[in-house]
Formats: sequence, structure tokens, C-alpha cells
Amino acid sequence: MASRMPLRSLSRATQLFNVRPWTCSNCRVGSARPLPLRRGVATTPTTNTPKKPYYVTSPIFYVNAAPHVGHLYTMVMADILKRWQVLLGDNDAQLLTGTDEHGMKIQRAALEAGMDTQAFCDMNCRTFESLAKAANLSHDHFIRTTDPEHREAVQYFWEMLKHRGYIYTSKHEGWYSVSDETFYPQTQVQNSLDPSTGRKRMVSIETGKEVEWSSEINYHFRLSAFKDRLLELYQRSDSFITPSTYATELIQSVSSGLQDLSISRPAERLTWGIPVPGDDTQTIYVWLDALVNYLTRAGYPFPPGQEKTSIWPANVHVVGKDIVRFHCVYWPAFLMALDLPLPRNVLVHGHWTMNREKMSKSTGNVVNPFFAIDRFGVDGMRFFLAYQGGLANDADYDNSFITRDYKKWLQGGIGNLASRTIGVAKGQLGSYIQAATSNKLPAPSPADVEHQIMLVQAPPRVAEQMTGLNPRAALQEIMSIIEKTNKYFHAAEPWKTPDHRWVLYNVAESLRISAILLQPFMPGKSQELLEMLRVDTSNPSKRSFAAAVYGSDQDYGQNVQKGYLFLPLLTED
Ligand code: MSP
Repeated sequence: MASRMPLRSLSRATQLFNVRPWTCSNCRVGSARPLPLRRGVATTPTTNTPKKPYYVTSPIFYVNAAPHVGHLYTMVMADILKRWQVLLGDNDAQLLTGTDEHGMKIQRAALEAGMDTQAFCDMNCRTFESLAKAANLSHDHFIRTTDPEHREAVQYFWEMLKHRGYIYTSKHEGWYSVSDETFYPQTQVQNSLDPSTGRKRMVSIETGKEVEWSSEINYHFRLSAFKDRLLELYQRSDSFITPSTYATELIQSVSSGLQDLSISRPAERLTWGIPVPGDDTQTIYVWLDALVNYLTRAGYPFPPGQEKTSIWPANVHVVGKDIVRFHCVYWPAFLMALDLPLPRNVLVHGHWTMNREKMSKSTGNVVNPFFAIDRFGVDGMRFFLAYQGGLANDADYDNSFITRDYKKWLQGGIGNLASRTIGVAKGQLGSYIQAATSNKLPAPSPADVEHQIMLVQAPPRVAEQMTGLNPRAALQEIMSIIEKTNKYFHAAEPWKTPDHRWVLYNVAESLRISAILLQPFMPGKSQELLEMLRVDTSNPSKRSFAAAVYGSDQDYGQNVQKGYLFLPLLTED
């Protein structure tokens, strides 16, 4: 790469500013694993340097209600992580999404809808599948917990836990929230008045969801046995949980005590689920069932000797902050009990709120993601969610914020820059690119060199943020390229200067590099921008992360035509 860089001043700049070479996460952890897998999962050839493909998962969605923008966010975050790996060259990277179809919540919702439960699941599952399509998700599989192979995996998982002595029966008394599908101890519930009916009820202090008393015999998992190992996991130097604020909270809560977990419900209460193997009077707890989906896709139960050839462990589970406990306490403990490898990371994100209240079906303050995509375009929405969505914090949703960002960053930022550059170049952009990349231009000005240095440094910074699982900060780095380029362009006034070749070349490079880096975030619009610049998009090496290097493409820019990348929005708030 560096040898193709035409500019002496640049390589010196690179040394001066100590631009660090980027190392992919798999190389960092040194985990070369051979492949292939069961059940038709994509594999990498087991030739010289076999490497486990990156495996990222989204949560699987409850099918009790229609999706909202919060669900779209979690899908998009997971998709960005997967597409980033593809950009780095891991063409076998895998993204799993799907639906969580068992449990009391779904059983009751189907009953209320007066529908057969399976038919109800089929209907609502289709909506989530349509959302994945509308969001341009690059998922490799859409799992449903009602799939027969998943049932088989869960029952096997259960048998293994039992075989190893981690399951016992006992009487369980406590408060159960159907909405949260979880038990709460007495200390975590309180009295409250239902604002709509004035009825007195008990609710979870944490989520405000109604709880009901339950006293029953069921199966328990020896969760308490894993306290020390879990605490060690949270303190691992390469952070199991990102952002670290969530680890701090978990350390506090797990240190203060961990009780064994009830992992089944009597079948007379819960029929819609997977029966406990060998005991039809009990149904497996929906969260145990749901978490195993990540293994099902990886081919679990692994045929003997093939544990190490699976895509498991997941590189990252993307989850919202309300389901941290399930993913960072129960799930690793289950896996530890079976000596299965743990997921490498859990990326937790904050919630979308409306007027500072969590967007949720039960509150009724939800935004229909299909309408939002129709209005702002799929890439407009993907951009907004990634750019403003919170990880450690929540983010407030409002149509006027999307309009503002769309105009500022997409229309006014990228779109305007592209069309003005093409306009000012008057059909000569291709020849400027040729001249610059074959050292046929006079010396650049100090402002040109400063811009070049910024362009050399930006892609590794974006990569560093992505390696740290911070897509938002990565996108901010990319948009900062656009912002700086706009300033450079306007300060240089290339429409007035007789020799504007360096400026137009540098702006073209800024756009080309930004478009390459934007692919995981806005797959459609970045493709359009690359095409507008006449980058040869049929050649994968011209659009990979390795091509996001200043001066590395000599062949683009021929016969470029002005176009509108981001059309004006039809309606405004
Ligand atoms: N079925 C469980 C997940 C099982 S994963 C083995 C579940 N489903 S859910 O449909 O309720 O939520 C799915 C995801 O959407 C969760 O990550 C949740 O945090 C996320 N969100 C739900 N409401 C949200 C917002 N208002 N904002 C952002 N994400 C939100 O939990």
C-alpha cells in the first residue's frame, strides 16, 4: 500500500505522526481456528491460515408486538459490526438475527389476539423479517426459537447441565414479570398505582413492569456457584462488556450476591415453550431457551471433535441495556457450566427515548420503523441511529433531529461536496487524479499537505474505534473528514484559483476514502457515491479497507457526472 503512495511529503508525514498500522481483532487475540460447520453455515477454506469467521449476533426479538425504532437500532448496530469485518476482508463474517417466540408473554399475547399461538408467531415473525430486509441487514441467518433444530439444541444443552449436576428441583416463591420474563426478589418490587385504572399493583422497581406472585416447584440452576468466575470475567483486561460503565454496575450487583436461578415453569402455567427433557410437567424458562439460539446457529450440539471448528464463540453479542444481566450473568454462567467457550464481547447500547421516556410497546410511545425508513430512506435512518444513538447513555428521538442531521451531514455535507467538486472540475477530475498519482503536479501548498496528513491519519482512527466496538465514534471520525474537507474546499476557493488541481484531487480522495469507510453504515449511499466518483466498484480491492489509503487508486474519476446523492426530504417537522 505504502509503495503506491505517490507523495514523498506524505510518507514523511506518516512517520512524523506515527500513524499506527491496524491489526484485526482475530489477529490480536491470535485465535486461528479451522472451520467448517454443520447445518450449512458458511465456512472458510481450511487451507494455509484458517481463521474463524467473525460472528456477531443481534438479540432475537419477542414476537408479541410489532417492531419499533429501538429494535431497528439494535439490528443496525449488529449489521455495522458485521459489515465492518467484511470491509476488512473477512468475507465469511456472520450475522445472526431472529425471533424469540416462546414464553408466557407470547402465549398471552396470542390468546388476547384470539389466534393459534404458532400462527400468531408466524405472522409477527414475518414483520421482523421484513424489517431486517427494509433495514438492508446483511444477516446470514434468521433464527426462530420455534425451529426444530433449536429445540434439539436447547434440550441437549439442558441435558448437559443436568448431567454435570447444575440442575436441581426446589420450591420457588417470588414475583414474576411476564413483560420482562423474569423473577424478582421481594427487595426489587414495590407497590404502585396503575395510572390508567387507579388499580393497586406490584411492579418491578427496575423496569416498572407489573409482577405477579408465584409459588411453585421448578428446576433451578446453580448460578451462585459462578460468582467468582463471573467477577473475574468482568475484570478481564480486554473487557468482556463494552462500554465499561455496564461492567461497573454488574460488578456491584454480582458482588452483593448471586442466587440460584429458576429455569423452568410448570407446564400448567406455561405450555408455549420447550418441554424439560424427561419431564413434560415443566417447560424450559424462555431466557435459557432464547440464549441458546446463538449456539444453535453455530451448529450446537457440536459433533464430537468438532467443537473447535465451529463459528462459536461469538465475537460479539449486541444487546440493549435492559438485557445485560441475561447476557453477562446467566449466559456466561451456563457456558462455564458446560466448559464451552465464552463470547468474546458483549456490546451494550442505551435506549431510544421519546421525551426522555424509553420507547416501548407497553408505554405506547413507539415509532414505526417502516414509516421512518420510508420517510428518511434506509441509509438516512441507519446514519441517524448510528450517529446519535447512545451506547453508555440513552438518546432522545425526534423527527426534527433526523431532518437536521440529514440536511447538515448528508445533503449539505457529503452530497454538496460531491456535486460541487465534480462541477468545479469541469470534466477534468480523472486527469487531475492521474497527474497527482503519477507525481506530475507541482509542490502542494502547506494547506494541501495539512489536509493530506489528516486523510492519512483518519482511516486508522476509524478502525481503532471499530476495534473498540464504538461504531458511533467511528462514524463521527468519518464525518469529521467530511467537515474538514468542506472547510478546506471553501478556504481554498478552487473555483477562483487557476491551478486548483491539488485541492480537487485532495477533495476527491476525501470523498473516495469516506465512501469506502461509510459502507458498513450506509451501504446503499456509499455505493452510489463510489459509483458517482467512477471508482471501479466491481473490483472488491478498490472498495476494501485497504483501499482507504490516500493515493492508492489512480484509476477513478473518469467522466464523472454531477448527481443528487441525497434528495430533499418531502416533509419537514
Ligand atoms: N427476546 C429478548 C432478547 C433475547 S436475546 C437472546 C428481548 N426482546 S425485545 O424484543 O424485547 O428486545 C430486543 C432488543 O431491542 C433488546 O436489545 C432491547 O434492548 C432492544 N430495545 C427495545 N426497546 C428499545 C429502545 N427503546 N431503544 C433501544 N433498544 C431497545 O429482549
